[in-house]
Amino acid sequence: MREFAAMIIAWQKLHGRHDLPWQHTRDAYHIWLSEIMLQQTQVTTVIPYYRRFLERFPNLAALARAPLDRVLELWSGLGYYSRARNLHRTAQTLIAEHAGHFPRDVDAVQALPGIGRSTAAAICVFTHGSCHAILDGNVKRLFARCFGIAGYPGDAKVQAQLWRQAQLALPRQEVEAYTQGLMDLGATVCTRGKPRCAACPLNRRCIAYKSGRIAELPAARPRKTRPQRRTQMLVLVHSGQVLLEKRVASGIWGGLWSLPEIEADGNIRALCAQRYGAEVSGHEPLPTIAHGFTHFKLDIEPHKVMVTHVIPRAAAPGVVWLSLEEALGAAIPAPVRRILAAL
Ligand code: ADE
Repeated sequence: MREFAAMIIAWQKLHGRHDLPWQHTRDAYHIWLSEIMLQQTQVTTVIPYYRRFLERFPNLAALARAPLDRVLELWSGLGYYSRARNLHRTAQTLIAEHAGHFPRDVDAVQALPGIGRSTAAAICVFTHGSCHAILDGNVKRLFARCFGIAGYPGDAKVQAQLWRQAQLALPRQEVEAYTQGLMDLGATVCTRGKPRCAACPLNRRCIAYKSGRIAELPAARPRKTRPQRRTQMLVLVHSGQVLLEKRVASGIWGGLWSLPEIEADGNIRALCAQRYGAEVSGHEPLPTIAHGFTHFKLDIEPHKVMVTHVIPRAAAPGVVWLSLEEALGAAIPAPVRRILAAL
């Protein structure tokens, strides 16, 4: 096993990534932020978000002081918004109860909201070089192939086997280069489709490669079709402005600004009058947008609604009229951004 780690480390030094914006720092805040953003999101997508976030919130105190809305704005389009809510809540807890210090102990790190075992390990490895095993999606694939671990990695038994392997493979030294090497190899060589096995430092010992089972390992998620749902969204347009409504804190897109929704056969005119005091001269369908969530698929049928007059009344709570530009700068989900950007 020592040899496995040595190969990863040697490969990382020669062929790994060395200039990602969260490398070359030991700042726990920076590393924590990067690891949270990198959960479920690729490096190239994360980089501009990471830079903007740190420009706006350069340290834990700045993040803790900010209203959640400002944080969600910077997260807009990155998805999985509970990550941003947890980040914000954790920053406030650390400032209020831990004198603004990020915990050092891996179990204390893992106890923070939104941080699982692998993320806690990565944070501790990169902030103080302590020795912990990581096992994110890419690394599961790499271990499943190299050590010939069959079964779906999401399955608890298979996962336990992968963790044991990850633990056994840990080196005593250079754990940062080793950890980064696993991530880099998983992301750039041992990819899901068309892995570059000829360029892999592990090919001579990789069980999947040697037995021609690269395409079969790791086993795919047992096929469960995600349910298909549909909804209609209304883009109320009046005097160059559009209406956004804040979503309730729980559920999908909790706390984000979104477009009003209406059930499939709902009456658009009546709803706009009742809920928003808006008189409507007409409406027209816009192209359907398909959006995938982890547990279901959603078809969004947007309608552009021409509003001639808004009855002045005490503004409904959680409703705003914004210029298109302002709306695009708000904390809105990615499909709402697509709808507005296409107007
Ligand atoms: N994926 C998760 N953490 C990462 C990191 N620190 N660098 C590159 N990819 C990652």
